[in-house]
Amino acid sequence: MYRAKIVGTGFYVPPRVITNHDLEKLMDTSDEWIQQRTGIKERYYVEDGVGASDLAYEASKRALESAGLKPEDIDFIVFATLSPDYTFPGSGVLLQQKLSARHVGALDVRDQCTGFLYSLMVADNAIRVGQYKNVLVVGAEVHSTGLDYSTEGRDVTVLFGDGAGAVILTATEEKDRGILSTHLYSDGTYADRLWAEWPSSRRLPRVTHKILEEGKHFPKMDGPFVFKHAVRRMVEVIKEALDTNGYTLDDVAMIIPHQANLRINQMVARQLKLPENKMYNNIDRYGNTTAATIPIALTEVLEKELVKDGDLIIMVSFGAGFTWASVAAIL
Ligand code: ACO
Repeated sequence: MYRAKIVGTGFYVPPRVITNHDLEKLMDTSDEWIQQRTGIKERYYVEDGVGASDLAYEASKRALESAGLKPEDIDFIVFATLSPDYTFPGSGVLLQQKLSARHVGALDVRDQCTGFLYSLMVADNAIRVGQYKNVLVVGAEVHSTGLDYSTEGRDVTVLFGDGAGAVILTATEEKDRGILSTHLYSDGTYADRLWAEWPSSRRLPRVTHKILEEGKHFPKMDGPFVFKHAVRRMVEVIKEALDTNGYTLDDVAMIIPHQANLRINQMVARQLKLPENKMYNNIDRYGNTTAATIPIALTEVLEKELVKDGDLIIMVSFGAGFTWASVAAIL
């Protein structure tokens, strides 16, 4: 039996920085409100014509370089995104072509903020059974082209940014390294508490001028409701990761949570009685990049040497669906 070890990470954000003050010019909001309620100071937006696969390509190149591998070494691609370049085909195949990787399988995963952790589960299991040696797992999002920049959309729009993060998992026979556990959950009861209802294949036509004029194609969220569930589920699923593997929080070097709102993560830390230096947050600089948040944060944690070889980390997320998950790993 193999284990899936993290051997390379990388991330990429587009060059255009959008501060809270930039958003103040577009809608009735303020730097003070955004920082106080979310912890966000700035985020990055793409230029027109740049898609999730372009951001993923840059992040993947960096992850491959840090792993000392080449695109031809990749045996499988898993691409998590809620903002694929096109309705179809998926962004995974576009990434395969951009990287000039071999004709390997390329799977798109559509589980929003939890998409990267769902993707790690797929990669981990494929490696454990010996099907693949090197798997590229990417989370990439372009939100900026799909947000409502009027005051009506301010609760959602100020939160999101564009970006990509990538991880290379490699099969190892080392017993004390790699992904230890993956716990995934969903509850579709609350699908409409955080969603983009239009365009919809349930409707003929899938979108109308009226729907576009009314802004019904923009993401909608019941923020306080999502907030409450996020805190509860993230605490639960971190505890489950610890219990399953026979660890306590004292054994953990770093919790790397999804970056939806700094206050959510602070509340999770408070409920767990987790010391501040054991949770990594970078939402101030990137906003919520959905499937990309965890691989971006993981790359930073490794680059800043906040963790070392042999350390236990727990990655945890909650998002639209609802979906939530945790992944425990030894570096
Ligand atoms: N600027 C100024 N005022 C605003 C803004 C804004 N950008 N957005 C909302 N407000 C106003 C509201 O209109 C409201 O005004 P009112 O009191 O006059 O009605 C007031 O601020 C308070 O609104 P709330 O929604 O209660 O504010 P809250 O403190 O809950 O913060 C937020 C809103 C930031 C959206 C928060 O609820 C949140 O982060 N929710 C969870 C987000 C999340 O976890 N998403 C999941 C991941 S995303 C994914 O999966 C795709």
